[in-house]
Amino acid sequence: MRIAVVGSGYVGLVAGACFADLGHQVVVVDNDEAKLDALQNGQVPIHEQFLPELLARHRGSRLEFSGNLQEAVRASDVIFVTVGTPQTETGEADLSFVESVAREISGALGGYKVIVEKSTVPVYTSEWVRKVILRNGTDPACFDVASNPEFLREGTAVADFLFPDRIVIGCDNERSAEVLRQVYAPMTDGSYYQRANAIPQPDRTSVPPPLLVTSSKSAELIKHASNSFLAMKISFINAVASICESVGADVNQVCQGVGADSRIGRRFLNPGIGYGGSCFPKDVLAFRAVARECGYDFRLLDEVMHINEEQRTRFLRKVRSALWTLRGKNLGVLGLAFKGGTDDIRESPALFLVQALLQEGCKITAYDPAAMERTREVMNSTLKYANSAYEAARGADALLILTEWEEFANLDLSRLNQELKYPIVIDGRNLYDSEVMAAQGFTYYSVGRAACHPEGVPAALRNGVKKA
Ligand code: UDX
Ligand code: UDX
Repeated sequence: MRIAVVGSGYVGLVAGACFADLGHQVVVVDNDEAKLDALQNGQVPIHEQFLPELLARHRGSRLEFSGNLQEAVRASDVIFVTVGTPQTETGEADLSFVESVAREISGALGGYKVIVEKSTVPVYTSEWVRKVILRNGTDPACFDVASNPEFLREGTAVADFLFPDRIVIGCDNERSAEVLRQVYAPMTDGSYYQRANAIPQPDRTSVPPPLLVTSSKSAELIKHASNSFLAMKISFINAVASICESVGADVNQVCQGVGADSRIGRRFLNPGIGYGGSCFPKDVLAFRAVARECGYDFRLLDEVMHINEEQRTRFLRKVRSALWTLRGKNLGVLGLAFKGGTDDIRESPALFLVQALLQEGCKITAYDPAAMERTREVMNSTLKYANSAYEAARGADALLILTEWEEFANLDLSRLNQELKYPIVIDGRNLYDSEVMAAQGFTYYSVGRAACHPEGVPAALRNGVKKA
């Protein structure tokens, strides 16, 4: 099929590259000239596994980049809209980019085409897109608007796109549903996965993925409800972690017990310093606003957001209780990205904590495998950067673990202990076993578990003994 993808952000670029790998002829459109130049010159503006290979494999053959939206629309059967839907002051999703793209599309519609919203949008958006295109004089027989929400996560975006738990197509008639079935046919008929050069299948996935055909409104709600439910699950376990801290229970044991229930599931039950990123914070707020507009007071989502914010202040309190005063303290920080596996720092809990600790007068040396460049663009110069986790720990009064990079869970602990001035680790992602850390001579604080101290350290000094 001939596909246009409008907006080359995380969703657009990954979708474009994957559609080309499925065998479709794809043009990715963006109005950001700098981004376009970079893409046309072979650069990959986002840090995503398999993306460089796919772009190299299809650029110039099944995959093109263009700044000319109308030309791309004329040359395509299906147009996916993946532009940004940022948050407004009051929490609603800003749909002005979606509207301006819809208006531009209306000027280029000839034969029958399907316009598909793939950005995360509130319910009713597809109806509005349809209205805008009709208002600009387009014949209703020339197009349909459908919804096809994307569930990819940053860091595993390509694999998530090609090996999804489900494909949701929200179509209000059979004609547009048939077009979208054809788009995803190489996945739903399993043929894509038979190919020698198919992207390798990740663990815990099954193929072919199911395809759910719903109404466009239901599809729009599926996306907001899914993200809000996942955010709620994280806030729930963070709330339980706070109770564990009060009663001296171990949240990791609780997660195991709760997560073993197949009706609940262990995934997304990892306590920590809260969720961040370009999606959960924005989508929970947007869903809250949508519900209000529809006359439903979705107070549960307020609590989800409140618990998430509280996780950050609780962690700050934990750092204070471990170090007493903060002014002038040297801290090593592992992690700046909002989660492991990405260079994205949007709404990063790690960055929030680093900024708060700098304001308290701490001196911070941070290390992140991928996000230091983006952090440099937004942070003032007092933050120092290290070339490794060990360098970040060198001479520090304590080490903070703020992002769940796999690398940080497999550090050489005796070397780390050597680097630190005081063997104090405050882990906001529960990457280590408390007893192991104590046995390695660390005073170890984490989330939802009691602090652990090295063997033989008198209680009074259980705050990290200066090494001989
Ligand atoms: C997008 C949506 O913003 C988000 O709601 C959804 O959850 C995931 O998809 P993302 O891909 O991360 O998120 O967006 P972003 O990185 O902001 O990229 C949007 C792209 O669209 C940018 O490259 C921007 O230049 C481009 N754009 C925006 C256009 O080409 N035309 C426009 O009119 C507006
Ligand atoms: C999310 C959704 O997972 C994805 O389906 C949707 O399309 C876009 O939004 P993403 O934002 O890339 O994806 O990250 P995700 O892996 O979901 O993590 C979101 C945040 O939650 C991160 O800050 C992560 O650290 C945190 N998290 C995740 C937890 O704190 N605990 C968990 O158990 C899981």
